[in-house]
Amino acid sequence: MKVRELVQLDTPENIIDAWESGGIVELTELQEMCLSNQELLSGRNALVIAPTSAGKTFVGEVLAVRAALDLKRVLYVVPFRALAEEKYRRFQEVYREAGISVAVSSGDRNEFDEDIRRGRYLITVVVNEKLSQLLVESPGIISDCGLVVFDEVQLVRDIARGPRLEMLLTRLLLSSQSPQIIALSATVGALNRFDEWLQCVVIESTSRPVPLEEFAVTSDGQLLRYDSPSRRVAAAGDLGRHGGLLDVVGHLVEQGHQVLVFRAQVDATEGSARAIADQPPPVEVPAELVRSISELEDSEARAVLEQLVRRGVAYHNAGLSLEERLFVEDAFRDGFLKVLVSTTTLAMGVNLPADFVVIADHKRWDPRNRINRNIDIAEYKNCAGRAGRLGQSQRGQSYLLVDEEGFAGGVANHFLGGKPEVIESAIPRSRLIEHVLAAIASRIATTREEVHRIFEASFASKTFYSRVGGHEALVQGLDESLETLNSGRLIEVQPSGVVCATPLGEVVGRSGVSVETGSRIISYLGQLESTVADADVIFDVCHCEEISRQSAFSAF
Ligand SMILES: Nc1ncnc2c1ncn2[C@@H]1O[C@H](COP(=O)(O)OP(=O)(O)O)[C@@H](O)[C@H]1O
Ligand SMILES: [Mg+2]
Repeated sequence: MKVRELVQLDTPENIIDAWESGGIVELTELQEMCLSNQELLSGRNALVIAPTSAGKTFVGEVLAVRAALDLKRVLYVVPFRALAEEKYRRFQEVYREAGISVAVSSGDRNEFDEDIRRGRYLITVVVNEKLSQLLVESPGIISDCGLVVFDEVQLVRDIARGPRLEMLLTRLLLSSQSPQIIALSATVGALNRFDEWLQCVVIESTSRPVPLEEFAVTSDGQLLRYDSPSRRVAAAGDLGRHGGLLDVVGHLVEQGHQVLVFRAQVDATEGSARAIADQPPPVEVPAELVRSISELEDSEARAVLEQLVRRGVAYHNAGLSLEERLFVEDAFRDGFLKVLVSTTTLAMGVNLPADFVVIADHKRWDPRNRINRNIDIAEYKNCAGRAGRLGQSQRGQSYLLVDEEGFAGGVANHFLGGKPEVIESAIPRSRLIEHVLAAIASRIATTREEVHRIFEASFASKTFYSRVGGHEALVQGLDESLETLNSGRLIEVQPSGVVCATPLGEVVGRSGVSVETGSRIISYLGQLESTVADADVIFDVCHCEEISRQSAFSAF
């Protein structure tokens, strides 16, 4: 199906012209399935599942524009500020002329927030947690909108960020004039009734428009590939050199390829980029590029990037400023950089085309359990899936580095042949009390009954707590949480059942500091004759440099 045929959906010709001139002429299989689905088009919720680079985000875009042209307000919800910025820029560039007003709201951007609250924009691109924050003061944002697109909704199973996303979805499902929900998801292992919970039609495609060849590389440079009929990895050649990060990247760059490297830890991105930049051969970069980076606002990172960019290399992580990140993304997209080393954040949705992807780690340090843990298969697939540019290349290749002596085949089998994890709620795997406080602090629930109502309507309740005895366990867990929060002075429960967070509870609930840490600090303070307000201390602790650097939330 041609993109031109979308005139049938009343899309103006000039918008179709803009899509075509941007290289979207023929729709992918997934796009065709979605944009001809009558249930979806007539307003039913939909869950769209497909591998990375199958063209899901464009589906969200077309539907957002269609709604906006009907003068319905749209929230386009994304998990990362890098993605918010990219979507915002694209919407601005392509649709402003068609009279569609667009705003963005994220950790980087709050200049539109006041007008977003007043409903001044047709499309608002917003990061999950930022939307939750906006809703505290302005719950009307939801009832005022006709469509909410959730990009990368598989994030619901993420232990750090999933619960807030789940609460947001629950809130939408419970609201009286609930808008249409379009949830876009990378491939998941099994749906686990997620679709029932979202009351949606499922549109799934397994085909990738650009074929992907996935390899694992052992430390001695052997290549392995997964062989479907035998369900095992098999030898697929030899690099002719060792299989370390510098060797593999060097090999690909020497062949003239542009490479996107993923590292599991933020701290490793800069170090790897430096090591790669120290390797020959030198790369020619335009003098103008070096000049334009030297004109960015002075910072430690900018000075490092300037040195790296001279050698055709850069890194990307949440520690960079907005303008530094945009610079790096543009320079890579324009082909000036040979290698970009990024955290896995970029794998989720940010449109950085590369034919070759190297996934340098399959493990990540888990500070809570103090072990190195395998990353999720879904995370691996998301990174690998970035390889291959739709409409521009014939194939993509990904290389997973596996340095485990004697066990490389097993690791390769696990990731290359594995199925992504089941989509499941992260609430039962984390501490319920944190989520109860977050719900009260962000005023999702203002009475004891509402606390029960919202958690009973959650995905966790539909799945985990629906097992035998589960419902009683949930009710008990909620009551105990309320009790503990009340006695710890984080919330106040009035005899009428009204609950509200204390100033201290509000800071703890919205900051990401755990209830346990918050309570411990309060108890220490109680033992001192302090004149400082407890909430101020917690606020300062959460914003001290060490904590913000470590924070799982720094990406939004
Ligand atoms: N039908 C199409 N033809 C050509 N390019 C496309 C098409 N649909 C999307 N693209 C481009 O392909 C890339 C990947 O699409 P995207 O929607 O981000 O995929 P996904 O969200 O499934 O990972 C983007 O650069 C996008 O602009
Ligand atoms: Mg996407």
